[in-house]
Amino acid sequence: MSSGEFDALWPLMVPSVRRGRLDAVAVSAKGVRIRFADGREVLCGSSGLWNCSLGYGNEAIAKTVGDALRHASYLSVWGMEHELAHAAATALVDVTERPEFGRVLFSTSGGAANDMAMKLARQYQTLSGRSERKVILALHGGFHGLTYGAFALSTGQLGQRMYGVDRRSVAQIVANSASDIDRVFGKIGERVAAIFVEPVIGSGAVVLEDDYLRRLFDVRRQHGVILIADEVTTGFGRVGPSVFASSSWEEPPDVIVAAKGMTNGTQAASALIVSTLVSERFIEAGAVLGHAETQAGTPPSCAAILATIAEMRRLDALRRGAALAAQLDRRLSALVGHSPFVSPP
Ligand SMILES: Cc1ncc(COP(=O)(O)O)c(C=O)c1O
Repeated sequence: MSSGEFDALWPLMVPSVRRGRLDAVAVSAKGVRIRFADGREVLCGSSGLWNCSLGYGNEAIAKTVGDALRHASYLSVWGMEHELAHAAATALVDVTERPEFGRVLFSTSGGAANDMAMKLARQYQTLSGRSERKVILALHGGFHGLTYGAFALSTGQLGQRMYGVDRRSVAQIVANSASDIDRVFGKIGERVAAIFVEPVIGSGAVVLEDDYLRRLFDVRRQHGVILIADEVTTGFGRVGPSVFASSSWEEPPDVIVAAKGMTNGTQAASALIVSTLVSERFIEAGAVLGHAETQAGTPPSCAAILATIAEMRRLDALRRGAALAAQLDRRLSALVGHSPFVSPP
């Protein structure tokens, strides 16, 4: 490829200008470094899109995925089952370390999984005799993806109105504000199906406070709404010290949405880890959830999930990540007052 050459690739979420500049085209990635077509090798400070937590080019994950592809290049979880999908589902339930979780649904991205979670919540309410409960609440400032359902939950000026995103059955609440919960539930409490939260809101790194979580748990009990933890970014040790950030909550959510770190960035894979309370409602009713994706839960994606979990354990990634975070905190704190880009926590 030569500099300035017209490129068929239309990169996402950046202006659609002509591209192909050699300094912007990555050619390989290994460990914590990415090499570009102009020969530069740069440190990746974000682990890809926060999804390659164990580094690029993990050999064990590559081998396991390659073996799975040779063993069964494609099998589905749409209307059928396969062995690796059972194993990956069990492993995902296990890493929650919560006895309340029992079932896993596979999807292919964070956005698609959130769409599926919205359907799950509304159908759960219908199966519970509360079909008027359709509204999904999400936290102001949160991001849940750009598929149409998830887009409706995401804040930020991302063109929702232009694209005709339907927001009639969603509403936003202010994070860490018990009075805002009271305001919204005072108005539309009997129509709420579920509350979506990021345990740490990505934009601004806002951590949900314990008192606020307690209020959410109370509301769940009072109204029978389901609580969905979008752990697409916070999951898989991203905020430690557990695999999921919600593991430190006093009560579990009803659904965990997992994606990014789950395959160390090697597969288009995501999952809903669902509490037995919710899944049993479907099983008792013999109900079918109206969601499936051809590429969800394939052998390579399930193999990647299993290998990523095994590698996290072998590398002691949670403990080492926490130690590195503490070290970074100390070093960054020393920069406060010396750089306009570093402010106190
Ligand atoms: C919290 C959260 N949820 C959902 C998504 C969407 O995930 P995906 O890009 O896989 O659709 C993101 C992406 O950054 C996210 O941060």
